[in-house]
Amino acid sequence: MQNQIRLNINNDEVLENQYYINEIRRTNDDFFLSFNEKKKFHIITYGCQMNEHDSEKLTAMLKNMGYEETDSYETADIIIFNTCAVRENAELRVYGNLGHIKHIKKTKKDLILAVSGCMMQQPHIVEEIKKKYKYVDLVFGTHNVHNFPKLLSSVYEEKKQIIEVWNSEGRILEGMPYERKLGLKAYVNIMYGCNNFCTYCIVPYTRGRERSREKENIIDEVNKLVQDGVKEITLLGQNVNSYGTTFEELYDFADLLEDVSKIDGIERIRFMTSHPKDLSDKLIYIIKDNPKVCEYVHLPIQSGSNAILKSMNRKYTREDYLEIVRKLKENIPNVSLSTDIIIGFPGETEEDVDATIELIEEVGYDSAFTFIYSKREGTPAARFEQHIPNDVQHKRFEKMLSVLNKTVIARNKTRMGEVYEVLVEDRAKKDTDFLIGRSRENYLITFKGSNDLIGKLVDVKITNPKNFSMEGEIINTPVL
Ligand code: 5AD
Ligand code: SF4
Repeated sequence: MQNQIRLNINNDEVLENQYYINEIRRTNDDFFLSFNEKKKFHIITYGCQMNEHDSEKLTAMLKNMGYEETDSYETADIIIFNTCAVRENAELRVYGNLGHIKHIKKTKKDLILAVSGCMMQQPHIVEEIKKKYKYVDLVFGTHNVHNFPKLLSSVYEEKKQIIEVWNSEGRILEGMPYERKLGLKAYVNIMYGCNNFCTYCIVPYTRGRERSREKENIIDEVNKLVQDGVKEITLLGQNVNSYGTTFEELYDFADLLEDVSKIDGIERIRFMTSHPKDLSDKLIYIIKDNPKVCEYVHLPIQSGSNAILKSMNRKYTREDYLEIVRKLKENIPNVSLSTDIIIGFPGETEEDVDATIELIEEVGYDSAFTFIYSKREGTPAARFEQHIPNDVQHKRFEKMLSVLNKTVIARNKTRMGEVYEVLVEDRAKKDTDFLIGRSRENYLITFKGSNDLIGKLVDVKITNPKNFSMEGEIINTPVL
């Protein structure tokens, strides 16, 4: 079954999987009647929000099949590793964990072990699992998540290693029955895949070509989420700024934001990720003018050096990027910016790192995800010359990080006395008086308050700006 060419997903597949959901549920209901407890599952998710969202879908399918979630390996009847291929260390951790589960499997014969996600889209990894991890029961790829109920049923029936990894995407599947664990916030996929082929990145190979969901399906999903109490959504895509480019009608990401914002009950809209080469003025004006769209933009720079940007195939220059930042700040004075940075890319010089450091200081990021370049087989950069030795990568990384941290901390400290609108998410920690939430700008803020404020918007005045978060006090209490 491995690496078969992708067939179109159609309604039959939705119905077929619904059939398997019902079948497995019947067996699980019988188990519950006999033993008065449900079978349990545990999912370990690596990597980005796309993967988290796929895990949400698996969770929902498993619950529909009558399983219950558990937060430990030891008590689980099904364990799924939903893996990430973006960097090597995440891959190594998965292998380590699979080794650990081998011991549990020895004493718990019925335990089902599955691995999914981006790692499985790489044939050499699947080969490795076939050879060295024969006790893995199920391997499936990023394009096969919807087929999980059917695959799980095959595991129960065939009692041998089942592998299904399609190597290309197809039509987007809508209407898979799944509920999700809902809080106040939810992710909504608006597109899948990526066409950008940054030379370091494995994602275009593991998640396939870019395709956008129809706006009606997105709006439907958001409407359902609102009915279930969601107040904040994050629209997800590898490059949300190119949403809709494959549609016949002219309809872009900014239009989608406008339409989603018309839905009653949605209070905040966020989105990620924005590729700088596609960020339009129209989008900047929507963030500025639409009260529901939050003033927060995640805008990966990757490197501040033009030579490295070119070699990464990022299709913008440092100057283009700084011009977008200027426009964002001019139009949206409180805009908060975060970024992704890679240090140690092949061919990088000390001057290239200095250029990145200067850019960090010039932009003034509020947060950043920072990475040491990791060679990914199959990507163009893996074949580049002048790979940077590990110790040099680490030294450069530390140098960059210390400047970045200083910048972020210094910005945080200027916020003393400022007032932010915070969506109250939860108690900060169990057994404290503090609540926790995020401002529109995505700042993490804690403050004293009672549980009945959870889910409400409150204004909080900052009394103690710490290094990477802030403490404050509520200055208005909503009518409860
Ligand atoms: N090595 C290091 N970082 C990477 N990223 C993607 N591929 C690699 C790689 N091979 C980072 C980029 C991207 C983020 C999600 O992961 O910064 O924006
Ligand atoms: Fe990877 Fe570049 Fe696509 Fe982002 S835009 S997913 S870094 S190829």
